[in-house]
Amino acid sequence: MPQITFTDHTGDHRTVEANAGDSVMETAVRNGVPGIVAECGGSLSCATCHVFVDQADLAALPDMEEMEDEMLYGAAVDRTDTSRLSCQITVTDGMTLRVTTPETQV
Ligand code: FES
Repeated sequence: MPQITFTDHTGDHRTVEANAGDSVMETAVRNGVPGIVAECGGSLSCATCHVFVDQADLAALPDMEEMEDEMLYGAAVDRTDTSRLSCQITVTDGMTLRVTTPETQV
């Protein structure tokens, strides 16, 4: 089963099982993972689902679309080269993904 490990800005981490086809944001919300606000519910209009993807896992993800790229400039914490919006990352079979949530989303 796919697994996502969420680490917060203090280093606390939690690994949850995920369902293929769900987004990483949906996985976080369903499991009560703190640090993902997801104000817009995944419609790519809030940037409060910002995560930093582990560098080693980044290459396995599809490239982001232009709209995600633009929205990341509105994130509460400055984006980095590993930033993604977790509502735009789809869980796939066998995925093991490590992401870190920013100190704040708003
Ligand atoms: S949940 Fe709003 S942009 Fe991802």
